Amino acid sequence: MDRKSKSTNSSKVQKILEEFQKDLNEGITNIGILNDEDLYKTELEKVFVGNWNYMAHDTEIPNTGDYVLRYIGDDAFIVNRTDDGEVQVILDICPHRGASICRAEKGNSSHFRCPYHGWTFKNNGDLLGAPAYKEAYNGLDRKKWGLTHAPRVEIFHGFIFACLEENGPSLEESLGGMSWYLDMIFSLQDEGMEVLGEPQRYVIKSDWKIAAENFSGDDYHLMTLHKSTYDIGVMQIPLKENMKGYHIQAGNGHGVSFSIDLESEDPLFFFYPEEIVKTFNLDNLSEKQLELARGSRVCVGNIFPNISFLMLPLSPDPKNVPPTPLFTWRVWRPIGPGEIEVWNWFFMYKNTTEEFKRSSYRSAMSTFGIAGTFELDDPVPWEAMTKNAKGTFAKKNMKLNLQMGMNNIGSSKQVTDWSFPGIAYYPRFEEGNQRHFYKRYLDDMLKEK
Ligand code: FES
Ligand SMILES: [Fe+2]
Repeated sequence: MDRKSKSTNSSKVQKILEEFQKDLNEGITNIGILNDEDLYKTELEKVFVGNWNYMAHDTEIPNTGDYVLRYIGDDAFIVNRTDDGEVQVILDICPHRGASICRAEKGNSSHFRCPYHGWTFKNNGDLLGAPAYKEAYNGLDRKKWGLTHAPRVEIFHGFIFACLEENGPSLEESLGGMSWYLDMIFSLQDEGMEVLGEPQRYVIKSDWKIAAENFSGDDYHLMTLHKSTYDIGVMQIPLKENMKGYHIQAGNGHGVSFSIDLESEDPLFFFYPEEIVKTFNLDNLSEKQLELARGSRVCVGNIFPNISFLMLPLSPDPKNVPPTPLFTWRVWRPIGPGEIEVWNWFFMYKNTTEEFKRSSYRSAMSTFGIAGTFELDDPVPWEAMTKNAKGTFAKKNMKLNLQMGMNNIGSSKQVTDWSFPGIAYYPRFEEGNQRHFYKRYLDDMLKEK
C-alpha cells in the first residue's frame, strides 16, 4: 500500500471512530463500526496486541513437554510446558526463513524441528542445531536465533494469558474489578477448575465485537432469540425472574452480569448440588464474595476485548434430566473483517466426581456446544448484523440504539450502595455494560501508537 492510501485509510478510521465517540455519549452506535477492513486492521494492532489474550489452561498442558497451538488474531503461538515446568508462549515461526515449526494442534515434545531445512529448537525456544551444522552454520551465534517469545505471560487461577507488548499493566491490573468476580468463581474449590474435553472451534461470519458485547450483558435477547429453547424448560428460573440481577461495569471495558437473589434463604451457588457445594472451601472467599456467590443463579461476562464466560444450570433433556451447572469459556478470535473463529472450552471444578463432570459436559454440549440449542441461535442475528454493515447506504447512515437504562429509559437504575467492585445497575434491562465495552474500545482505538 502506498503512503497516500495508507494515510487516507487511517483518516477514514479516525473519522468513523470520532463520530462513534460522539454518538456513544448519547447511547448510540452505528453499524459502520462492524465488518470494516480498515477498522479491523487497526483493531489487530491497537486492541489485540496491547491487551491480555487468553491462550490455554494449565490443565490442557499438565506435563512437561505438553503443547497446544493457539492464536492471537492472525499470529500463531505454541503454548507449552518446558522441562522446568514453566509455561511458555512462543511464536510459531522459524527464525531461519519463517516457516511454521509446529505441525499439530497439540502434543508432547521436548523439541521442535522445522520441516523446511530442519533447524531444531528445544521446547524452551533455544536453537539447538541444524542439519550439516558444521558445513552450514559453523560460527553462527545460536543464542541470537532462538524462537520468539510472547513478551509477557501470566497465569490467573490456571488460566494462561499472554500480552504482546513489553510494557503496560499487569494481568491483574488490567482485569481491574473483574479479577474479584473471577476470583470468586475460581476460588470456590481449593483445587480450582479443569478443562473438559477439547476446545470446540468453528467459524462464523460475525464481527468479534458483536459476540463480546453480547456476553458483556445482553440478557435481554434471551426473551426472544432463545425463547423456544428456554420454553422447553432447560433452566428452572422463569425468564422474567432471571432478569432480576445486576449489570456490572467492572472497569477497563469488562462487563459482568448476575442473575441473583441476594435475599434467598437457601444458598444458591449457581444451583450446584449439595454434594458439590460440600467440596467448596468457602474460607477462600471474602465475606462479600461469599455473599454474592451464595445468591448467584447465573453469571455471564466478557473480559475485554474478546474473552467471554458463562456459568449457569441447564438441562440437556428437561423432561428427564435436572439442570446441571456448566461453565463455558470462550475466545472470539478475529480472523478477518467480520469473521471469527469461535474457541469454546468447557470447565468444571476439579474435585468433583467423573459422573458429575460428565453430566455438566452433557448439559454444556447440548446447549452451548457447537450444535447446542443456544449456540445455534446467536450466529443468526450476529451474521445478519455483520452482513448489513456492508450495505453502502447502511454503512454511512445506519445508527443503532444502545440506550436501555440510560437517561431514565427503562426501569434499570444505578445501585448507589453497591458494595462490590465496579458500577452496578438493577435490574438487567440495561445496556451500560455494552456502552462500557465500547468506551474502552474507543480508548484503545484512538490511542496514539
Ligand atoms: S525455514 Fe525453518 S529451517 Fe529453514
Ligand atoms: Fe445468546
